Amino acid sequence: MGDAPEQHGIETFQAEGLSFPPDASTAAAANARADLYERASADPVAFWAEQARELLTWRRPFTKTLEWELPFAKWFDDGELNVSENCVDRHVAAGRGDKVAFHWIGEPGDRRTVTYNDLLREVQKTANALKALGVAKGDRVAIYMPMVPEVAIAMLACARLGAAHSVVFSGFPANALADRINDATAKVLITADGGYRKGNFFELKPIADEALKSSPSVTGVLVYQRRQPGTAGTTAMQAGRDHWWHEFVPGQPAECPADPMPAEQLLYLLYTSGTTAKPKGIMHTSAGYLLGATFTHRAVFDIKPDDVYWCAADVGWVTGHSYIVYGPLSNGATQVMYEGTPDTPAWDRWWSIVEELKVTILYCAPTAIRAFMRQGDEHPQGHDLSSLRLLGSVGEPINPEAWLWYREMIGGNRTPIVDTWWQTETGSILISPLPGVTTTKPGSATFPLPGVSADVVDDSGASVPLGSGGYLTLTKPWPSMLRGIWGDPERYKETYWSRFPGSYFAGDGARRDADGYYWLLGRVDDVMNVSAHRISTIEVESALVDHHSVAEAAVVGKSDPLTGQAIVGFVILKKGIDPTPALLEELRAHVGKNIGAIAKPKHLEFVPELPKTRSGKIMRRLLRDIAEGRNLGDVTTLADSSIVEVIRAATGAADE
Ligand code: WTA
Repeated sequence: MGDAPEQHGIETFQAEGLSFPPDASTAAAANARADLYERASADPVAFWAEQARELLTWRRPFTKTLEWELPFAKWFDDGELNVSENCVDRHVAAGRGDKVAFHWIGEPGDRRTVTYNDLLREVQKTANALKALGVAKGDRVAIYMPMVPEVAIAMLACARLGAAHSVVFSGFPANALADRINDATAKVLITADGGYRKGNFFELKPIADEALKSSPSVTGVLVYQRRQPGTAGTTAMQAGRDHWWHEFVPGQPAECPADPMPAEQLLYLLYTSGTTAKPKGIMHTSAGYLLGATFTHRAVFDIKPDDVYWCAADVGWVTGHSYIVYGPLSNGATQVMYEGTPDTPAWDRWWSIVEELKVTILYCAPTAIRAFMRQGDEHPQGHDLSSLRLLGSVGEPINPEAWLWYREMIGGNRTPIVDTWWQTETGSILISPLPGVTTTKPGSATFPLPGVSADVVDDSGASVPLGSGGYLTLTKPWPSMLRGIWGDPERYKETYWSRFPGSYFAGDGARRDADGYYWLLGRVDDVMNVSAHRISTIEVESALVDHHSVAEAAVVGKSDPLTGQAIVGFVILKKGIDPTPALLEELRAHVGKNIGAIAKPKHLEFVPELPKTRSGKIMRRLLRDIAEGRNLGDVTTLADSSIVEVIRAATGAADE
């Protein structure tokens, strides 16, 4: 590691004493008002009903707000709306069709401007194309695409028909795509020939083809052409199954009515890592989810008609779903969508985009912020960033040092920062400051939003006093909550609702300070958070054990100054296999091939044994301590305590 840990350490900066009250001009113009908290807490269900009537366009008004049969919620159940109509048609109908929805920038530097009129036309044609491929209300459609406007168009086209999409991050390998397609029994796959990243064209269609060999449910494939004209390379297409987007979509009928859909119509599945090897298909439905995304995008990002808003997440994650597609489009926002990586062609790429398009609101992950910190202040300083008025952070705890750098170097010591806590499962932001209202403290996500009921509890489920830490729970249903795990209601109950009866357990630790501010402490389960991406320890272990030379493996997250956590794996080889450096590399690559590059362990160690409890459970806590070079705590539950020394000797981790 190049830098001294104290320079970029996660927990080295004690900033609890610092606070930033809202400035008067933000406060005067803010969408959110302090009285929202009281209004919401007096009657949360009535509050959400009022927001739903105000912010969404209904085809049939709801009369029932919430039906709650713990842990199954129905929101606005007898109401009807069409999500794509809310995100597109209503803005055109209000005379804002010429407004830019997306300023799109390709990594090679190509540009497109997509207005709400364009979206309306393209969403309808694409919906008709899906119909022609046999997609109907209630079907599932898999989407595996790079960051191009067509990914949003594809999602909205599904929503228009009442078909659920399942977007699979374009960095995932073939078997991960196939697993997700098969779990959802998707009928159609929408993909692309590839996309641009780090200066290169990466192929997607061959990976999709590989996945489709074992995905029999898919009968039609729509392929968007991203490869720039005149560049080398061809894409194999299977006659009868595969259709080029540019040949198939433009000729479709121009009109596809936005039929009213039940409020609880399944809008999408999004697969996320849990504590087992099998990813969970998180279910989100239409009206409640859209309300959560719309309300929070409006209140937390304080979106105004003239803003140029940029969420730099990939659409393959929930942040892209809620804060590139549904929230901002429902609010009729103008956005930036950028295809590539922040370092291409140079580390000032983002700042040149901010300057050029006069971006006013930027939302990204702490990992990106820490990467920018390392690259040096000259990159942001070389650009005029004075258009920015609000900055957001998501995906992992933001260390106070990064928070302060973000505010000073990117926000010119002027912009409020919203550190937003939420999850794939929560659908929208639940804990966050409100700009213009909340006094922020660097590193704290501050308070639950209006209408959200959270608590921090101890092992027995009792609320802990201010000043102490425990488990983060949500104590009342909220509109954008997950409706379940696709095909597995038992797992839904067990995973989220069994640990603390009556409450949703988020899997995160949190502390409330003396003023009641929430400080998120990271995952308390076997889920790692690497560069704001959730990866299950067991998923990586399964991928390692899948290699013919591996007998057993254990994986832990080790704190990392850049990526939050880094994956460290301990591997026992089968008898007679040589522990060579080449094999280490091969194993890392094997994990990459099976789960994706983001899951490649940063360090792998060959060890003769793993520490286990008497019941045979791997003691990850001990391995974490070894990886972190910490003194070991209680080892009395260990079956054989001498193992720790054997492992330490093998890894040399204690010397780090
Ligand atoms: C973590 C991403 C601290 C947390 C939206 C959560 C955070 C997991 C924050 C969900 C934050 C997200 N501060 N930790 N502001 N935001 N997390 O499903 O551990 O990809 O449980 O959703 O990210 O990750 P997911």
